[in-house]
Amino acid sequence: MIDVEAAQLVLRANDRDGHTVPTDGLYPFQWSWDSAITALGWLQFDEARAWQEAHVMFSGQWDNGMLPHILFHGDAESYFPGPDVWGSKTALPSSAISQPPVWSTAIRRMFETCKDRAIAEPALEQLLPKLIAYHDWWYRERDPDDTGLVCSYHPWESGMDNSPAWDDALARVPEVDWDYQRRDLGHVDSEQRPHKPQYDRYLYLVDFYKQNGFDCDAIHKGCPYRVVDIGIVAILQRAGKDLVDLCRIAGDSEAIPRLESELARTQESIGGLWSKEHRCYLNQDLVAGKPIEELTTATVLPLFGGLADQSKAAYMVDLIDEWLDATTFALASTHPSSKRFESQRYWRGPVWLHINWMIAEGLSDYGYADLAERVKQATQKCVDESGFYEYFDAMSGAGCGGDRFSWTAAVALYWLA
Ligand code: GLC
Repeated sequence: MIDVEAAQLVLRANDRDGHTVPTDGLYPFQWSWDSAITALGWLQFDEARAWQEAHVMFSGQWDNGMLPHILFHGDAESYFPGPDVWGSKTALPSSAISQPPVWSTAIRRMFETCKDRAIAEPALEQLLPKLIAYHDWWYRERDPDDTGLVCSYHPWESGMDNSPAWDDALARVPEVDWDYQRRDLGHVDSEQRPHKPQYDRYLYLVDFYKQNGFDCDAIHKGCPYRVVDIGIVAILQRAGKDLVDLCRIAGDSEAIPRLESELARTQESIGGLWSKEHRCYLNQDLVAGKPIEELTTATVLPLFGGLADQSKAAYMVDLIDEWLDATTFALASTHPSSKRFESQRYWRGPVWLHINWMIAEGLSDYGYADLAERVKQATQKCVDESGFYEYFDAMSGAGCGGDRFSWTAAVALYWLA
């Protein structure tokens, strides 16, 4: 049983005047996909606050439509890399990359379930053009060659920051040679955080965008790290369908043909990422020009995006079934058979609740209600064992990373309670 009151208290405690921080200390600002998931939690007990979360997030949208992955509200001293390192000159200081575009999906759910129509209707009217601009940005700037598959320029953009899927692509990136002080290690055990050589490369990329004046052509041509992240592609596809529905609901049809043709293009191209051998879709390293053979939870997210046909879905279902069996607490973010699996290091094995929610949604859509329920039970088990931690050790179920974490509490409220 979820302690609903305790989960609500987590969101209230992490509320900073209209935006929710993921957790106190480690993540003191507003992160885009955290914020979208968290809004679904707020929706269960404070509808106005849920919409406010969205309005505040989109107040930081760039003129070109990009929605930054971090909005630095207030004093950024406690966080590294802060706005000065990113170098973006926006009115509200922000990072210069995005994150998995789950917002249109969240807004659609909010609009459909919100009881107070006097808030929901004007909110949708205000947010819809911003959501459209955001999706247009992905297709225009992240798929300039119209391949149907948007690309990503930073592991942090995937939201699965330290996933082993990115190791080889990241290894090709030069390391920065400047001195800096990480702030994450002051909050969390280094056993659970990325190693320094990885961090040096993360920073090289941050600096690279700045040196290139955030010019999308220059970055696309020269960025030493370019991948097709199957997680982003799948989430964008789901969100794109939700956005088309939102346009219809709002009676705003102008963008629909454009969005639908992008959705169709992605649907056509996705087959190229399928691996029969691995029974899932693979991320692609665009610089090396090859698939990334690492099974992470992103590789089954095409179920959430509705991108697989029934026969491919059936293969993924078998894979997920075995994946669930392989650890005591599930679903491990990296398949335990990987030699890079680590049960408690960031995105290299632990369990994240919102990913389980997306996978379960996808399974239900494809008619696999029993397996979806198993994923849900496995998720509940993590919370029963350890509470509202950022993520959970796939072997012991121990809570890892930050405690009293917003998206964990929000998924508990929205999905498990
Ligand atoms: C980490 C996670 C990322 C999340 C952020 C804030 O960077 O990898 O997905 O958005 O923390 O919780």
